[in-house]
Amino acid sequence: MATQDELKQAVARAARDYVADRLPVGGILGVGTGSTANFFIDELAAIKDRIGGTVASSEATAKRLAGHGIRVLDLNDVDVMGIYVDGADEIDHGLALVKGGGGALTREKIVAAVADVFVCICDASKRVQTMGRFPLPVEVIPMARAYVGRELAKLGGQPKLREGMVTDNGNLILDVHGLAITDPAGLEDRINQIVGVVTNGLFARRGADVLLLATADGVQTHAR
Ligand code: A5P
Repeated sequence: MATQDELKQAVARAARDYVADRLPVGGILGVGTGSTANFFIDELAAIKDRIGGTVASSEATAKRLAGHGIRVLDLNDVDVMGIYVDGADEIDHGLALVKGGGGALTREKIVAAVADVFVCICDASKRVQTMGRFPLPVEVIPMARAYVGRELAKLGGQPKLREGMVTDNGNLILDVHGLAITDPAGLEDRINQIVGVVTNGLFARRGADVLLLATADGVQTHAR
């Protein structure tokens, strides 16, 4: 039986091959954040000469990329990004996601918005029928924390401040427990309309285009 890390490694290799096959030589690649993305970054080192540059979705990812000698660009200097590769905390069968377990949801959402193709990489434990068991991260401007918390409670969730966490953007994270996310796009919109919310970890309006899913029987490819 493969361990979860072995599954993450397998899907990271599959994503490396996907990029090698589909990203034009010299193209720009977006790179996500988290333990699965870290395995992918380590695999990417083998094909770094084919890539024109990368855009990182967090300071931690930028550091890891640079450590491998992989060029990291400012998103403002990039017009076209062929592919974005990132993990997920949950993914449903329509390829909508919950992200932000690592607190990088806002930058991840920005990079995903720019990319032509969003490739989600995860192991089979992340695939669910209905999202919400993983607490939904919401990035909040610090002075709005209490107000946003009260508004999130009105939506039926139990928000909890992530202790000790300050995002790369200088903000806080509220993790919202107890939501059954039956309308991911509707909930994404509703939460984003609360004043003081930077963004939330639902990626439904811009979900994944392709899912590379590591299972005990190998890596499956699912497309939207
Ligand atoms: C980072 O903020 C997250 O969105 C990650 O992409 C997500 O938490 C997946 O992380 P793991 O690959 O570590 O499970």
